[in-house]
Amino acid sequence: SNFDVTIRNGRICTANETYYADIGIKDGVIAAIAKSLPAGKQDIDAAGRWVLPGGIDSHCHVEQLSGMGMMCADDFYSATVSAAFGGTTTIVPFAAQHRGNQIPEVVADYAKRAAEKAVIDYGFHLILADPTAEAIEKHLPAVIKDGITSFKIYMTYDRMKLDDYQVLDVLECASKEGALVMVHAENNDMIRWIARRLVERGLTAPKYHAVAHTSIAESEATNRAVALATLVDVPILIVHVAGQEAVRVIHSSQALGLPIHAESCPQYLFLTAKDIDLPGLEGAKFCCSPPPGDEASQEAVWQGLINGTLQMFSSDHAPYRFDESGKLPKGDATTFKDMANGVPGLEVRMPLLFSEGVLKGRMTIERFVAVTATNHARTYGMYPQKGTIAVGSDADLAIWNPEKAVTISTKMLHDNVGYTPYEGKQITGWPEQVFSRGRLVVTDGKLQAERGSGKFIKRSTPEPVLRQRLTGNPNSVMRKYFSVDPSEKH
Ligand code: URP
Ligand code: ZN
Ligand code: ZN
Ligand code: ZN
Repeated sequence: SNFDVTIRNGRICTANETYYADIGIKDGVIAAIAKSLPAGKQDIDAAGRWVLPGGIDSHCHVEQLSGMGMMCADDFYSATVSAAFGGTTTIVPFAAQHRGNQIPEVVADYAKRAAEKAVIDYGFHLILADPTAEAIEKHLPAVIKDGITSFKIYMTYDRMKLDDYQVLDVLECASKEGALVMVHAENNDMIRWIARRLVERGLTAPKYHAVAHTSIAESEATNRAVALATLVDVPILIVHVAGQEAVRVIHSSQALGLPIHAESCPQYLFLTAKDIDLPGLEGAKFCCSPPPGDEASQEAVWQGLINGTLQMFSSDHAPYRFDESGKLPKGDATTFKDMANGVPGLEVRMPLLFSEGVLKGRMTIERFVAVTATNHARTYGMYPQKGTIAVGSDADLAIWNPEKAVTISTKMLHDNVGYTPYEGKQITGWPEQVFSRGRLVVTDGKLQAERGSGKFIKRSTPEPVLRQRLTGNPNSVMRKYFSVDPSEKH
């Protein structure tokens, strides 16, 4: 066996176990895991280091127009470089349809831009803002066959939101064709109603964004999304869970046996509504939807990630600069309604959770691997090619120095945002060598990968969808009256 790379003496951590062994890599794939493997052409001593699966960030916005029509500050190059420096080796950003756009053109456009620039592997979720009959009957089945096996839909934002009838149509299509629907659950009318009253009274500072986006809007929409999914008997995934009320809705639906999946993000563990309450426009740097809540919500999100209510930890990296291209009001616009929503987090996602979760003893390293890598691969149809350390899996690995002290600052990060909400935060642990399909893409602070070397990952049927076909409710209206027998598909 002549390995291209051998990684020796590392402490290997997967979602299930931790052990010491060598890893032999050949042709981009893990070829052997054992004690005392022969030397590789490249031989790496990982003694004192932890060897983890490369992270998967299944919620990030890259080179995308937002729901409010603003362009992200990161393109597929800066975003994937930044991800790699933080230990992430696969991203699943969005190909975003806006109303009136044809889905095949949207997908082809994103695919082209990513292929030219990405330095790590990537897939896409399709954002669906215009579920016409043609989209449902023709375009969605086609993109699913092409390996885009998940869609994101919005219950809020005037330009993106679907009504409940449209949500049901999309859920039915996903069930038949084998895709997972991700839901941005916030009640649009509640938010609009509060926001209008705030603005009328001159309450326009960034902190009022967090008042308008009340946690009641999140939990109401979450509850409604669960009900819509239950009617159609399909799994769904609630994205960027922020409030303790929403965590409770998800937890109780799971206790009833419903196939409700959920993710949360760094901003809901490490920020609160106090952070957005800054003088002038400074609070805009902390403006995202849903907004971080109070300490009780922070604690509920921690508990949810630890106990399994929330299966994934993604960044929801939504990069906007602190200027008129993103966060700051443009022209005559002056209110919190006019700031881009979203915070950056692609590079610091894993180091923050490693330091504050694993090293502080709140979360096991196995759970860390599950919520940052393995569960993303399973949930989105990339397992076991991605998301684990096993013979036959892609050699996507990060070698972590668990003792490295780091002070987070925008100067050390590789995105194009120009600020970080975590400026000055001191953490411990950082990935020093990062491999993508056996290629050392980052080593000791240096990028080695070339623009365009990342590959599109064609994803298969998400595990929640496969599971639901076996365990779904035979008495649901779908199966009883509309004879949807998903077992006939695939
Ligand atoms: O505020 C956020 N999260 N902006 C990004 C868009 C989204 O809804 O995920
Ligand atoms: Zn099909
Ligand atoms: Zn969202
Ligand atoms: Zn998002």
